[in-house]
Amino acid sequence: MFDRAAARDYQSHSKLEIAEREDEANAMALRPIIILPDPKLRLISAPLGQVDDALRKLLDDMVETMHDAPGIGLAGIQIAEAIRVLVIDLAKKDEPPAPQFFVNPEIVWSSDERAVYEEGCLSIPEYYEEVERPAKVRARFLDREGKQREILAEGLLSTALQHEIDHLDGVLFIDYISKLKRDRVVKKFAKMAKRAADGPRPL
Ligand code: NI
Repeated sequence: MFDRAAARDYQSHSKLEIAEREDEANAMALRPIIILPDPKLRLISAPLGQVDDALRKLLDDMVETMHDAPGIGLAGIQIAEAIRVLVIDLAKKDEPPAPQFFVNPEIVWSSDERAVYEEGCLSIPEYYEEVERPAKVRARFLDREGKQREILAEGLLSTALQHEIDHLDGVLFIDYISKLKRDRVVKKFAKMAKRAADGPRPL
């Protein structure tokens, strides 16, 4: 049996469904951030062959996740994607968002001059310590369009780039602090993870 009106209904219905599905695919999504002592944080992330729409979607999800946290930088592995991507946004709270995208970033030069910055990490929440790093770095990377770029970073951008590129190599900022302090924070997070796994669960 064939009914024209029903067929029309069916068509408009399916068009709506398709539109909804497309919206879903285009909508940005928050991704859970993994935290210490998740062993994935120690993985070495793999380089990417190209920048395509699927990767751009992931980069946009990373920006949304970073803004929501809120943080000023996020590496792929922090959302359990072991690929060499990171996003940084240094805009202040009263400024419009200004996300920067880095695919396969590489530090090609670092200054002898050093700088100290009090660092924190979305994967080690609410823990801050001073870390000393090269004050300036030159980095090569692909942007969101897959175009090769190079920047000379100084100040907070230099610190953020070095911190995030470290994530791609399984390095955390606590690796630069004293063993005593590092052991203490790792133990604290291991204890919290254990309590979350074994402890009483809210109703
Ligand atoms: Ni971090």
